[in-house]
Amino acid sequence: MTSLAPHVPIPKHGVDYRGKVVLAPMVRSGELPSRLLALKYGADLVWGPETVDRSLIGCTRHANPHLQTVDFTRPTANGVSQSHIDQLPPEQRHQSLIYRIHPARESARLVFQLGTSRPDTAVAAAKLVARDVAGIDVNSGCPKPFSMKGGMGAALLKDPDRLCAILRALVTEVGQVYEIGISVKIRILETAEETRALVERLVKTGITGLTVHCRTTPMRPRERAIRQQLRMIAGVCREAGIACVMNGDVESREHAQALMEEFGVDGAMIATAAEKNPSCFRTKEEGKLLDWREVVGEYVKTALEVHNKWGNTKYLLGQMIPGKQSAYRPVTQSKSYEDVVKALELETLIDMARDVDQALQIRPRESKAESKKRPNEVPNLMGDVKRSKENTSDTSEATDSSEGKLQVFSTTITPSRSSVPALTI
Ligand SMILES: Cc1cc2nc3c(=O)[nH]c(=O)nc-3n(C[C@H](O)[C@H](O)[C@H](O)COP(=O)(O)O)c2cc1C
Repeated sequence: MTSLAPHVPIPKHGVDYRGKVVLAPMVRSGELPSRLLALKYGADLVWGPETVDRSLIGCTRHANPHLQTVDFTRPTANGVSQSHIDQLPPEQRHQSLIYRIHPARESARLVFQLGTSRPDTAVAAAKLVARDVAGIDVNSGCPKPFSMKGGMGAALLKDPDRLCAILRALVTEVGQVYEIGISVKIRILETAEETRALVERLVKTGITGLTVHCRTTPMRPRERAIRQQLRMIAGVCREAGIACVMNGDVESREHAQALMEEFGVDGAMIATAAEKNPSCFRTKEEGKLLDWREVVGEYVKTALEVHNKWGNTKYLLGQMIPGKQSAYRPVTQSKSYEDVVKALELETLIDMARDVDQALQIRPRESKAESKKRPNEVPNLMGDVKRSKENTSDTSEATDSSEGKLQVFSTTITPSRSSVPALTI
């Protein structure tokens, strides 16, 4: 029967989710270095962290030749009105980095996830990133009050008319125009009948894929995923020719493949297990999970390559290094990339760490006497990212294992000397 089932056409710049084991969208934990590492270890596709449409609208797209990235930035308000910022010469406008993509290393395999509650704002935001990604996904599963109160995330599960309108608008105004796929990520509803009714509507909107997180909205992340509805959901998707990706308590590639076979789903998505150790995407033949030391070393190198926000790197290292390991304390108490590299004995990265600390204006550990001698401010020679709050965790609103928070970063960018003028879209 499966072979007779229709397949919706995959757009030219899109990607088929069938047969794929993918990295889940994760606010805070799904930034660029995490995605690149997951791909390095064999993830077939990566979902970026949910970004709320309103935080993307108004962003400027910059090609950053220094890092070979594409950066989406917006002026940082910091209590200053927009009209005031607009009057300043560009080199004085501080910019907040909202999203960073590495086109060469990820674009063809990157799905951008939107938090939205309206078709018009969803379309406006999606158009900004459409040329740099393989697909746009709508988060319809976030249970956090921030999303729910704004009519986003899991609130959309209770308003299928609105969710379908958002997906249809994205399909016609973004998917068809930029030739990329549109998809949705949902949670299961209380009963199989309710879930079926919802999925039957969603698959008719023109989407190419649907991910189902096998937990209901009130369920906490530690509760075991419920798989009883999975076969039914996969069946509805298959009838419509839509790829069905399962999510919830998938531990590794091998586990994913066994579950895909057992439940007849097309793909599987991994979140928590990949946050801790992205080598979970490796095949059995490759030797499966690597030791945390090797993975952490690769992560630090990748974070340095793309000048990842220091607070975010430190946070991720806290997730990746087992708490009982002797490296955990010194790393989580580090104040700079140089400190981290020393704590992990990654000698080959020391020069790179110092360069990045300088570029990001992260001050290395210094004695009180040195601190007194230091002049007021160090010029931002690399001119690429300036931290508004130094050596602190980043201020994105994400909490422990939160979903779908508004992407708010404390990082500000000053125009790079080596960067080309902003490409406004
Ligand atoms: C730190 C963290 C951040 C998350 N952020 C998002 C998000 O931005 N969008 C989303 O749809 N789900 C988000 N989730 C939920 C995961 O994508 C996934 O659905 C959930 O963790 C279940 O998968 P797992 O059992 O493999 O962890 C997040 C989960 C975690 C742990």
